Amino acid sequence: MSDKKASLSIDGKTLDLKVHSGTIGPDVIEVSALTGNGYFTYDPGFVSTAACESKITYIDGDKGILLHGGYPIEQLAEQSDYLETCFLLLYGELPNADQKEAFFNKVRMHTMVNDQMSTFFKGFRRDAHPMAIMCGVVGALSAFYHDSLDITDEKHREISAIRLIAKMPTLAAMTYKYTIGQPFMYPQNHLSYSENFLHMMFGNPCEPSNVNPVLAKAMDKIFLLHADHEQNASTSTVRLAGSTGANPFACISAGIAALWGPSHGGANEAVLDMLNEIGDASRIDEFVARAKDKDDPFRLMGFGHRVYKNFDPRAKVMKLAADEVLAELGLENDPLLKIAKRLEQIALEDEYFIERKLYPNVDFYSGIILKAIGIPTSMFTVIFALGRTPGWVAHWNEMISGSYRIGRPRQLYTGPAQRDFVSLDKR
Ligand code: CMC
Repeated sequence: MSDKKASLSIDGKTLDLKVHSGTIGPDVIEVSALTGNGYFTYDPGFVSTAACESKITYIDGDKGILLHGGYPIEQLAEQSDYLETCFLLLYGELPNADQKEAFFNKVRMHTMVNDQMSTFFKGFRRDAHPMAIMCGVVGALSAFYHDSLDITDEKHREISAIRLIAKMPTLAAMTYKYTIGQPFMYPQNHLSYSENFLHMMFGNPCEPSNVNPVLAKAMDKIFLLHADHEQNASTSTVRLAGSTGANPFACISAGIAALWGPSHGGANEAVLDMLNEIGDASRIDEFVARAKDKDDPFRLMGFGHRVYKNFDPRAKVMKLAADEVLAELGLENDPLLKIAKRLEQIALEDEYFIERKLYPNVDFYSGIILKAIGIPTSMFTVIFALGRTPGWVAHWNEMISGSYRIGRPRQLYTGPAQRDFVSLDKR
């Protein structure tokens, strides 16, 4: 609690409100006392509302700062790796060498999925969107791993978290293989997390796998940069679902559904669709004009962010990774990538975008890298979901292991007041 005090005067009455201070970031005014006095707060889109206390991730959108456990994302991207960052999110500290090895081994030992899962895929049409399959198969994990569903048991929660992190690449790759009619690839546990994912995505049983280490490194960076982003829409969905006592697999499936939308995780797919639609650099101006037109719902995908009103720090790292991957693959002259670079340049110089602080976000560059690696566009959001899984489980676990109440927002009701039923012959 802070020494500061807040009060609200309404209708001649003054209500004293508590003020809480975090380690860093804005103070938070507690409004829970309002209900007892006959008021609710109104904050569509939760732009001013802190719904929980958390120690996992901190963002300063104005300064372009993102910290996990206090560590800047740039340092983690440069000096750490995805699994180590998963450990940090789950346990709050970076692992020492023994902890790191033990954690990596645990994840490695859980990469396989119950064989029955493979029949589950067959219920989907081959042309189903991979995110539709992922919502289903991740939720279905709760039907296979009954031995880790007691959410009151710390060990169960930990095993579920590790299972989710370990099995997401397997399920994501199975989803892709199913949609293209190729056999599922078993995980190879001598490979690193990202190598294993690329092996399961692009390998086939007839030939030895040959994973390019530069691409595996870029993949690892993409996962790391997506690992957590505090109370975003999908994480808040996971928390809300979790607050009812639902099991972790069901909660993560809810998170995947929330992530799917084009304003959130679906943006990386939408970026590539948009670049394809633009088709030629000569049409960029037309699309920029449409994005600025208030009567046109079109938005430049991969630009803007609810929290970052400065450059997205993840986008800076992703941009460098994109350059590395394009150089490795000799794709610097790819026509679509040329359009992307030109669009970025124009938008960064345009008054409309400057005024509104609309910078390229992480999805703008991740889409470019994923395309270069050969990941099909429809799988982009699945990659985001895979990367975000440790963040989702860390937030879910933080909530369940502390004191929490079922999430239940209130509303400003503007429908009809009470009235008497009108029989059909009188309507
Ligand atoms: N293109 C054109 N105009 C835009 C864009 C855009 N991409 N984004 C925002 N604006 C304009 C918007 O029209 C509004 O203008 P005005 O003040 O004149 O009415 C102003 O900027 C503020 O926009 P807003 O909708 O109030 O901002 P928001 O914080 O509610 O929305 C956003 C954030 C990410 C949903 C939005 O910027 C957007 O739709 N971007 C494109 C989709 C995208 O790339 N999403 C990925 C986000 S990063 C990954 C993640 O964390 O999920």
